[in-house]
Amino acid sequence: MKKFFRGFILLIIVGSLSACSSSTGVSQSGIQDKGKIVIATESEFAPFEFKTLIDGKDTLVGADIELGNAIADALGVDADFSVMSFNNVLASVTSGKADIAIAGISVTDERKKAYDFSDAYYEAENIVIIKKSDEATYTTLESLVGKAVGAQKGSIQENIAKDQLPDSSLVFLTSNGEMINELKNNQLQAVVLEKAIAEGYVSQNDDLMIADMTLESSDTDAYAVAFAKGTDQDLIDTVNDVIKKAKDSGDFDAWLEKAATYTQSSSSSDE
Ligand code: ARG
Repeated sequence: MKKFFRGFILLIIVGSLSACSSSTGVSQSGIQDKGKIVIATESEFAPFEFKTLIDGKDTLVGADIELGNAIADALGVDADFSVMSFNNVLASVTSGKADIAIAGISVTDERKKAYDFSDAYYEAENIVIIKKSDEATYTTLESLVGKAVGAQKGSIQENIAKDQLPDSSLVFLTSNGEMINELKNNQLQAVVLEKAIAEGYVSQNDDLMIADMTLESSDTDAYAVAFAKGTDQDLIDTVNDVIKKAKDSGDFDAWLEKAATYTQSSSSSDE
């Protein structure tokens, strides 16, 4: 009798464990049943995701947003963008707050241990942005020793700064817009960013420029859609199809070009 009970309890434990593991990661059919896909993103990362005024209304736009809409279309559901700080974006797919995350997320070996990723859709490059008036002062990584350098919290730029600017005084902030303001106000002397993002800020701020110094990217810096570990392969395949089509057809480049025609609203980031 005792043995029977023990076996029974074991069965219950194993059963509930497997129920748990099958609920991490979303399934394509689950999303289709819901009729919407919740996409975690951020809102200060032009040209990928940012807010701009359209008809007087703050509107989320950018290439990642177009990609999210194309994924929703392919699934036959609505896209529901959930805007949060970048340092919460990845965690939101694990907690189940979002189904997928699209936020210029770089694939790294470290992140691959905790998340599944789609194929890459964009190759980024890391640079240092400074004030034009400092052009002659900050010409090498060594010239930034002892200087205040910013990077976004939770981004790979945080690690790049730690590795390659270990003797700078590093400041990690949640909002890129805030970092750019601190740079303009001399609170920061430099900010580590990806090139496309920096170019957006430079084109809208005459007093800023990309510094003439080189950061070594340890990993290749490629953006991909992130999923919780254990996400159903059907969904990942659908996303990969959409990515392939967007790249092959030139749509992705067109989305980037369209995004470059909008002005980023100077609103602070949402939580
Ligand atoms: N590519 C970098 C990373 O994955 C930065 C991404 C920041 N994205 C954003 N929407 N702020 O860490």
